[in-house]
Amino acid sequence: MVNVEIKKTNLDYSGREAYKALRTNLQFCGEDKKVIAVTSSTPNEGKSSVTLNLAISLAEAGKKVLLIDADLRKSVLVGRVRTDGEVKGMTHYLSKQCELVDAICATNIKRLYVAFAGPTPPNPAELLGGKRFQEMLDTARKVYDYVLVDTPPVGRVVDGVIVADHCDGCIVVVESGVISHRYVQDVIDQLKKTNCSILGVVLNKVDMEKSYYGKYGKYGKYGKYGSYGEVESNK
Ligand SMILES: Nc1ncnc2c1ncn2[C@@H]1O[C@H](COP(=O)(O)OP(=O)(O)OP(=O)(O)O)[C@@H](O)[C@H]1O
Ligand SMILES: [Mg+2]
Repeated sequence: MVNVEIKKTNLDYSGREAYKALRTNLQFCGEDKKVIAVTSSTPNEGKSSVTLNLAISLAEAGKKVLLIDADLRKSVLVGRVRTDGEVKGMTHYLSKQCELVDAICATNIKRLYVAFAGPTPPNPAELLGGKRFQEMLDTARKVYDYVLVDTPPVGRVVDGVIVADHCDGCIVVVESGVISHRYVQDVIDQLKKTNCSILGVVLNKVDMEKSYYGKYGKYGKYGKYGSYGEVESNK
């Protein structure tokens, strides 16, 4: 198994607290919520950052975690790590160019494993909708405590909805002050058509100087990473 080095984001106190709250809320969603998709309506809202930081937070709390980069169109994760040796990715595995074990890397963070996206394929949605992705999640479910799946934005491509359909639950990342209620509602409506429960919303990139959360009440201490929303099941 190839080893990769992940550079942790330097979170301030409120950022660290926010991820602890997110981790705890996820754990309270129940043991049957193990395979979790992280998505949003538009690009750049912070899905990949939230997925990685949550994965690290869970691993640090003693959970064995697999982070899958299922953004096969525009992966950023591989650019955020240092790797020795050749790294195979999801697209190699999904197109039968390698076995699952070869597509998973160990990391410098104990109990955290990652599967990178791999080279961009011509048919991402077909690959993610195929049998091999389902088989991967079935196997991972037996080996890991949590499987977090980073996806492309639901409002742009269908991949996120296809991935969510294979997952137990999903988290929707919303960029504070940028995304309209209507956009978020569209994503929620699309996700509700899948087999996956919407576990909650992460309000990301909150401007603590201007926001309600920074000024008032107990949410202030959760900082710019925002809070984790209500649990809402669509099952
Ligand atoms: N809470 C935050 N505060 C400040 N900057 C943030 C925060 N979360 C993410 N960012 C920054 O926003 C940018 C986009 O983040 P990220 O790549 O995680 O988004 P994404 O939703 O995965 O984007 P894409 O849709 O392109 O995959 C990055 O530069 C990241 O460092
Ligand atoms: Mg991303």
